[in-house]
Amino acid sequence: MEFPAELRDRLAAVRRLGVITGAGISAESGIPTYRGIGGVYADPARGDEIIDSLSGETLESDPDRTWRALAELAAHASGAEPNAGHLAIADMERRVPEFVLLTQNVDDLHLAAGSRNVIRVHGSIHDARCLGCAAITSMTREVLAALEAAPRCASCGGLLRPGAVLFGEMLPTDAVRRMEAEFSLHPPDAVLVVGTSALFSYIVGPVVDAAHEGRLTIEINPEETALSPVVEYHLKGRAGHYLPLIADALRR
Ligand code: OAD
Repeated sequence: MEFPAELRDRLAAVRRLGVITGAGISAESGIPTYRGIGGVYADPARGDEIIDSLSGETLESDPDRTWRALAELAAHASGAEPNAGHLAIADMERRVPEFVLLTQNVDDLHLAAGSRNVIRVHGSIHDARCLGCAAITSMTREVLAALEAAPRCASCGGLLRPGAVLFGEMLPTDAVRRMEAEFSLHPPDAVLVVGTSALFSYIVGPVVDAAHEGRLTIEINPEETALSPVVEYHLKGRAGHYLPLIADALRR
């Protein structure tokens, strides 16, 4: 699909931009998505096993298993760098007066690309927290990928828990508060949703609200999602192709 000329004009008028991303934006950095072609849950039996390993319940009963599953995910991401899509989103933040990014990704590639106002609603794979003393231990992807058992806190010896939200767990309260403030109390005049299968209500909600209120909505995804019929523009293709075009259109 070509980039529509009237969309370029609409983007030039945007003052407050909200961007929402999922695993698809990191696909071009070589990190497998969760679902869809090449996704880590694409094989149903394997998918169920990983989901079970990465649950809050398994963390309690068998933390070594949870950490080994995380180590496997980290190994898939080894050497990944921000791509043209991450860089274009960081560029967008410098071009519009007000900007917010809501990401489901735990890979921190948005921060590496230079994005600042980021809500990491599923946390970060790099920030482990001690279940004893609550101290945060930063872990590189390489350290994570090499783990064979649950790591321990360097200061108190307590068990560390992953910094990412696990299946069946609540979202971090500060992220929920920030989502509410940035997308409901002070809504963006354009919402751009990129590379997510849009399964969660807190991802779908801000896009549906914007569409119903006549604010600009754009989706970038090579496949159809539940949001495709809702948005004004579905740009059916790769994030790395369309995001630089959108950033360019924001330039005044
Ligand atoms: P998914 O793996 O469910 O979806 C990835 C989406 O990216 C799919 O819709 C693909 O079509 C799309 N995609 C693939 N390549 C793309 C590209 N180059 N450009 C644009 N889009 C592309 O990932 P999420 O929606 O992020 O939760 O998954 C949501 C959550 O489910 C994750 O955060 C994770 C998982 O369970 C936690 O870790 C807590």
